[in-house]
Amino acid sequence: MIPSNIRLDGDTLIILDQTKLPGEEVYLEISHREQLFEAISKLRVRGAPAIGIAAAYGYYLCAKADRDQADFFRRMDDAERYLASSRPTAVNLFWALSRMRQTLKRNALLPRGELIEKLRLEAVAIQEEDIKNNLRMSEHALPLLKDGMGVLTHCNAGPLATSCYGTALGPLLLAKERGMNIHVFADETRPLLQGARLTAYELMKAGVDVTLICDNMANHVMREGYISAVFIGCDRAVRNGDAANKIGSSGLAVLAKRYGIPFYMFAPLSTVDMETENGRGIRIEQRDPSEVTELYFKKRMAPEGVKVLNPAFDVVEHELITGIVTEEGVITAPFEENFRKAFERAKAGKVEENA
Ligand code: MRU
Repeated sequence: MIPSNIRLDGDTLIILDQTKLPGEEVYLEISHREQLFEAISKLRVRGAPAIGIAAAYGYYLCAKADRDQADFFRRMDDAERYLASSRPTAVNLFWALSRMRQTLKRNALLPRGELIEKLRLEAVAIQEEDIKNNLRMSEHALPLLKDGMGVLTHCNAGPLATSCYGTALGPLLLAKERGMNIHVFADETRPLLQGARLTAYELMKAGVDVTLICDNMANHVMREGYISAVFIGCDRAVRNGDAANKIGSSGLAVLAKRYGIPFYMFAPLSTVDMETENGRGIRIEQRDPSEVTELYFKKRMAPEGVKVLNPAFDVVEHELITGIVTEEGVITAPFEENFRKAFERAKAGKVEENA
């Protein structure tokens, strides 16, 4: 069993510290917004949907801890801005905080206790919808798999990055449950090793056949014919279908095109940003150079003072994407039109659910 990664326990948010995996399963108890900011920015909680869920609970805890009447709404706007500044690329963070703000504004006239309860329920709903959407995405992607096939994945888009099955790893886990044997090749994912530390850990725990490779081996395994599809997550897909994901994703897409391998990205609609026209509008997070030069090495391996570039994400151009798997089905080009239809289907489904 993969341990539950995000859980609310009274006034405390319990988070599995992903920086300690796979060696140790350490849970953090978070009750202040500064602790949550640190946990998100240091990737103790990471993966686009998981960041959104954690931020939603964080927003609720900020509201609950606030005992003053005067300026409450202004302080909540400050709390939103503060939490939103913890990471810039994954859109789920802003999406979840905006849902929390709208809930706050919609219920502004309620007595404080009732208003706080509405916020708690909204954060729980965000997490529950994520679980449901993961399962739906996994079902939509299952027909893309055949027994015995090889799939390449990058970074970690599994249960740890979400709340349940995960996005790109979801169908691989579901396939295992349904008796299929898929051979997964996991890129180690330099510099933070999410593939080696987290994807390998999750798939091995689930009994999925997984082989770890260095990032620079992807071309080799594709050329040798080991790979029949690429399944990776997504941090932000935009209107024209361009999609940001962990650094290295765009190179994989170019390689997949070269070898005629289908390239699928997995993005719940909460990861689709229709406000941004194309990939050039996505802000790419730049991280600390020490992640490249020393973290995860026994001793520093690069000369002191060397210049380092450490972008955490890159953008896959929509022309290279075979399909984007969402909870409303697999979206193909033309992406803008088909995203709009998916949002309409989702809205209609919600209306039906609430009827
Ligand atoms: O920097 P990270 O580890 O948060 O990056 C995560 C990814 O790039 C994932 O592929 C993405 O968030 C999708 S998670 C379902």
